[in-house]
Amino acid sequence: MRPISTRARALTAAAAVSALAGAGAVAIATDASAAAGCRVDYAVNQWSTGFTGNVTVTNLGDPISGGWNVTWAFPGNQTITQGWSATITQSGQNVTATNPSWSASLGTNATANFGFNANYSGTNTAPSTFKLNGVACTGTVPNSPPPSSPSSPPPSSPSSSPSTSPSVPTDPGTKVDNPYANAKGYVNPEWKAKADAEPGGSRVSNNPTAVWLDRIAAIAGTDSSSSNGSMGLRDHLDAALAQGAGYIQLVIYNLPGRDCAALASNGELGPDDLPRYKSEYIDPIAAIEGDAKYKNLRIINIVEIDSLPNLVTNTSGQAGGTAMCDTMKANGGYVQGIGYALNKLGAIGNVYNYVDAAHHGWIGWDSNFGPTADIMLQAAKASGNVNNVTGFITNTANYSALQEPYIQPTVTVGGQNIRQSKWIDWNQYTDELTFAQAFRTKLVSIGFNSNIGMLIDTSRNGWGGSARPTKASTSTDINTYVNESRIDRRIHAGNWCNQAGAGLGERPKAAPASGIDAYVWVKPPGESDGSSSLIPNDEGKGFDRMCDPTYTGNARNGNSMSGALPNAPISGAWFSAQFQQLMANAYPPLS
Ligand code: BGC
Repeated sequence: MRPISTRARALTAAAAVSALAGAGAVAIATDASAAAGCRVDYAVNQWSTGFTGNVTVTNLGDPISGGWNVTWAFPGNQTITQGWSATITQSGQNVTATNPSWSASLGTNATANFGFNANYSGTNTAPSTFKLNGVACTGTVPNSPPPSSPSSPPPSSPSSSPSTSPSVPTDPGTKVDNPYANAKGYVNPEWKAKADAEPGGSRVSNNPTAVWLDRIAAIAGTDSSSSNGSMGLRDHLDAALAQGAGYIQLVIYNLPGRDCAALASNGELGPDDLPRYKSEYIDPIAAIEGDAKYKNLRIINIVEIDSLPNLVTNTSGQAGGTAMCDTMKANGGYVQGIGYALNKLGAIGNVYNYVDAAHHGWIGWDSNFGPTADIMLQAAKASGNVNNVTGFITNTANYSALQEPYIQPTVTVGGQNIRQSKWIDWNQYTDELTFAQAFRTKLVSIGFNSNIGMLIDTSRNGWGGSARPTKASTSTDINTYVNESRIDRRIHAGNWCNQAGAGLGERPKAAPASGIDAYVWVKPPGESDGSSSLIPNDEGKGFDRMCDPTYTGNARNGNSMSGALPNAPISGAWFSAQFQQLMANAYPPLS
């Protein structure tokens, strides 16, 4: 949940004019060879001087166990600058991609996926031949019956199955376009009990909130000492059936090296724990979500908060970037982990995946917007099929206002465009609704299905109460104008932890606006974002100074005060003062 504002200004954003997206998968077929068989799908997203390449190799021959490499030669001057999920080296036009240490074997029909960024000039022609361990990938196994022969079926969809572990039971049912439409949401009884125990809490406690599967133990259920709830996944799904709920919302949140740019929600898995993420976390969740008992419940997964945007804006060399984000970018743990989760969970007929896409105050600048969309596509492709993604969520656990009627970025004051103000800081967007709709358009333009929908977390972006402006300022100074007119009352849009003055936002609601599947409460109101001082715990959670009200800030929040409430417990734990404040400042107000 680290809504980190990265101050990438439009003035320096020329690098991000990702004009196009010509993604196309081509199966490369060339000469045959004797020992093995393979198929390569090669897809690019390119702009005028660079591109992102995505390579999926399927081993059609005997199992490979001692490591693999994929080689090719670029026909032009393409130069790889960075790779992931494989070690990629280039010598002249020749490229070798070697398996990552965590993925040395490739069983029959198993698929490996990796990607890279590259520069080029002129025409970006695709390589004509790819080889797996020296054998050209023709799409068939030489000397075996052709793919149409029933005795040797090719993989039904060449890139649809990156996983080698057993598949989960699936419901063949057709997914609906918007799983929130005409359906009652599951009310988490553990959250409801805490809300009901607060004076006035029963006014909101019947709203659906998400269940966070924030560690492996949360699947089976934890003991009562855990910071947020002890019911396991089956307990929640059974309770949802008992409630007659139409949908349930779960947060998949346990990537290796989690929360690489902040500390408050560091998790239990180390940076190299991708195998554990797959086998001890995603596989068991997929097995439960795929249980036919739940087939009439729409199971909605909110996938891995903040992770992919962190790889775009918070690697070292960027303001406030971290070595852990470098590690997670280099080892592919986030992209591969999310790809795996989308693949396993998306295969289930009644399951819907929404990937986290940060918020406007983080990726609203041109320099972050396109690259974030691109990495979303990489992760979706790593799952084998972009249609494993139902949509995206913005503003998870964040405070960005839904709409800013008085500070739209086109406004000029005293002859100056307000984008130059300190608050907006050249961002292209000033509110979540406009941003989410524009990001959706961008995602569709680069290759996502045109029926994807967005979610916006409105659990604490209401900003009601007496501090809420009711009209535009009359000041002719852009900074005064913006500060007096904005709905979002934070000290800085990069602040994210237990914000003073925040209120509950829109109540959960299906299909509230064009392109938006729902307003949702993913971060349960009343649950802390992080402790305001160091509190030892056994959940891997660190102390992030952005949660300390005395902190004077860092590059990512313009060296501003943190604006955090005092006396907060660790992230996820109940924080009564925060809950009371959210109710008091709700907008729309509570009746
Ligand atoms: C925490 C999780 C918690 C979630 C919802 C996150 O910040 O890391 O442990 O479940 O918030 O409150």
